[in-house]
Amino acid sequence: MNANPNILVFDSGLGGLTVLREIVKALPDAHYTYVADDAFFPYGQHSEDAIIGRVVPLIGELIAAHAPDLVVIACNTASTLVLAHLRAAYTVPFVGTVPAIKPACAQSRTKRISVLGTSGTVKREYTKALIRDFAGACEVTLVGSVHLAALAEAALGGETIDDTAIAAEIAPCFVGENSDHRTDAVVLACTHYPLLLDRLIRLAPWPVDWIDPAPAIARRVVTLLGSAAVHNSVHQSSAEMIFTSGRHNRLPGVFSPYFGGRIPA
Ligand code: DGL
Repeated sequence: MNANPNILVFDSGLGGLTVLREIVKALPDAHYTYVADDAFFPYGQHSEDAIIGRVVPLIGELIAAHAPDLVVIACNTASTLVLAHLRAAYTVPFVGTVPAIKPACAQSRTKRISVLGTSGTVKREYTKALIRDFAGACEVTLVGSVHLAALAEAALGGETIDDTAIAAEIAPCFVGENSDHRTDAVVLACTHYPLLLDRLIRLAPWPVDWIDPAPAIARRVVTLLGSAAVHNSVHQSSAEMIFTSGRHNRLPGVFSPYFGGRIPA
């Protein structure tokens, strides 16, 4: 593997930073370009056609501009729709982020889990197929959150977010209280939600396993870069952050922990 592969990580906003953080731990010497499509945020509120029509050409432009060795779509709302289109259109390897239903069901002892995602992700045929194929005897509650991604962005930006607002978004995940069949795992099916993990744990009505797929995604990236022909290193800046709105990165210090301590340009 090239010691300095060029990896592009894409999300609708800042949630993909939770995936980036795990990839950076696994591949600290890679060059990273993080792209937040904040001009179109939140994806959860757009139609399927609108997301496909937005993301497929945008990724094409980003590939042309940055020549990445690999692209990570660090967004469930997009991945559950566009991965097949991207793979058909471009030759760069893609790694997506889709709801971790299989591992959650495998580790659930009560055989009741919830999937917490955007309202778009929980409606997708892709998500329903994951349940059909991998849930087995496990009961799956789908919870579409309208506000949680935006609340996570605001919290990362330093705004004060009330506990009650977060608690209301996660409440439907907790099913079967006072039974021995109550929810014991919640899949974080939106990359924004791990930004709030400390508060999710504190505000949960009872303890559950919060399943974050980011470490598994990082392992997949390592596997693909290890086997693919990695052929360039034209970008010498180690970490760059791009907002499609064109807004200036006002919080480079806040983002640096996600880039392994580097301040993104
Ligand atoms: N981070 C995105 C995801 O993983 C969604 C946030 C949005 O609605 O844009 O689904």
